[in-house]
Amino acid sequence: STGRKVVITGVPGVGKTTVINASLEALKEEGINYTSINFGTCMFEVACEQENVHDRDEMRRLDQDIQCSLQKTAAQVIARINENVIVDTHCTVSTPSGYLAGLPAWVLNELKPDIIVLVETDEDQILKRRLSDMSRQRDMEGYAAIKDHQRYNRYMAASYSMMTGCTVKIIKNLDYLLDNAISEMVTLLR
Ligand code: AP5
Repeated sequence: STGRKVVITGVPGVGKTTVINASLEALKEEGINYTSINFGTCMFEVACEQENVHDRDEMRRLDQDIQCSLQKTAAQVIARINENVIVDTHCTVSTPSGYLAGLPAWVLNELKPDIIVLVETDEDQILKRRLSDMSRQRDMEGYAAIKDHQRYNRYMAASYSMMTGCTVKIIKNLDYLLDNAISEMVTLLR
């Protein structure tokens, strides 16, 4: 397919969706358009039809083989889009049986990303953002677990880059500095 494929990742609550939405609005004013796809939403739509799932936070607790099959279906849907695409997803998903690759080989081969972005911030800020979001069933994780997860995501991004030749860009989304994150993202996507 044609068009640029940019995969944007970050641990839950880091604010990736906030940064993506604001960046796309700014780019639209410049006449640059991206279709933004939330991978979790894509998976959730399939999960609602096939599994007995009621909210998106249940998905990471499904059997491993079911999560993998949902991933594959979502990737195939996204791969068919012939435009500039942003995929809002996860480098790895924290499941009860350990970290699950968000972009295993069969997903990467469908998506063929040009760039993988890691949105990061200080772990204490992520903890605070999760605690203030009452609309979600967040995992109860402490500072150290979030730090491990962010570090592991960098390792995984490196391996995705080795597999596909994509670049890896780290964008910081710090408290009070959302505008900096947006401006970095806009520059990257322009
Ligand atoms: P997903 O839909 O990605 O949900 P999530 O992980 O919970 O991520 P959110 O969108 O809720 O958080 P966010 O980081 O985007 O933060 P937000 O912008 O809301 O995934 C759902 C599920 O789908 C996963 O659990 C998994 O099961 C599945 N899934 C997805 N991809 C998969 C894959 N590839 N393989 C397998 N499974 C997959 O912001 C959070 C808060 O922070 C907000 O209150 C916001 O106002 C605040 N905030 C943002 N920026 C700042 C700032 N700079 N300063 C202060 N506050 C800020």
